[in-house]
Amino acid sequence: MAMTQDDLKRAVAQAAVAHVPADCIVGVGTGSTANFFIDELGKIKHRIRGAVASSEASAKRLQGHGIEVVSLNDAGSLPVYVDGADEITRHLHMTKGGGGALTREKIVAAASKKFVCVCDASKLVDVLGRFPLPIEVIPMARSYVAREVVALGGQPRLRTGFTTDNGNLILDVSGLSILNPVELETALNNIAGVVTNGLFARRPADVLLLGTADGVQTLTA
Ligand code: A5P
Repeated sequence: MAMTQDDLKRAVAQAAVAHVPADCIVGVGTGSTANFFIDELGKIKHRIRGAVASSEASAKRLQGHGIEVVSLNDAGSLPVYVDGADEITRHLHMTKGGGGALTREKIVAAASKKFVCVCDASKLVDVLGRFPLPIEVIPMARSYVAREVVALGGQPRLRTGFTTDNGNLILDVSGLSILNPVELETALNNIAGVVTNGLFARRPADVLLLGTADGVQTLTA
């Protein structure tokens, strides 16, 4: 029987468990693929000390499995962070934030020694930009940031009815062909009022576990 996208997500989530050292506090991402990983963690919960969550939604799911959720300030440096992506290249540069959790994701990733990205094959692209790039913005800076984004060649659209876990807004920016993600990540973060943008290029993933019909492929940068 043909594998569904959920089968591929489950397969990479299972493969990610091998990257979780015994007795550690593990960094946990957000989204449907990260949810499969949380469910796998539930099965090995006695082998870990706890988890740092990148969103309220992931924290709730972890707790639902009886996994202790630890604040990043208490956890210190983490050995590994496991999360999905909206797009990823062979350089392991990513666009993230489709679920709106990009800022906490970037913080937990930054505090982790190894970033393991878990994706089904549909996420692998040659150039980032088809998926609109999310930018978290302080509410009072919304129109200013939007004008600056237009000047950079993007078309921003406010994500309606959505507030981030940090109480901010998201602009989803389309029309960008992101040939230099490291440069664009820096340029966007330098606009006053931007909290974070969804490019994860300055700190790319270290390992990509890619779910394909032929099995889980492991890519490193
Ligand atoms: C959440 O804010 C995102 O960064 C997710 O990592 C991304 O949207 C991937 O989600 P799925 O695994 O549901 O595709």
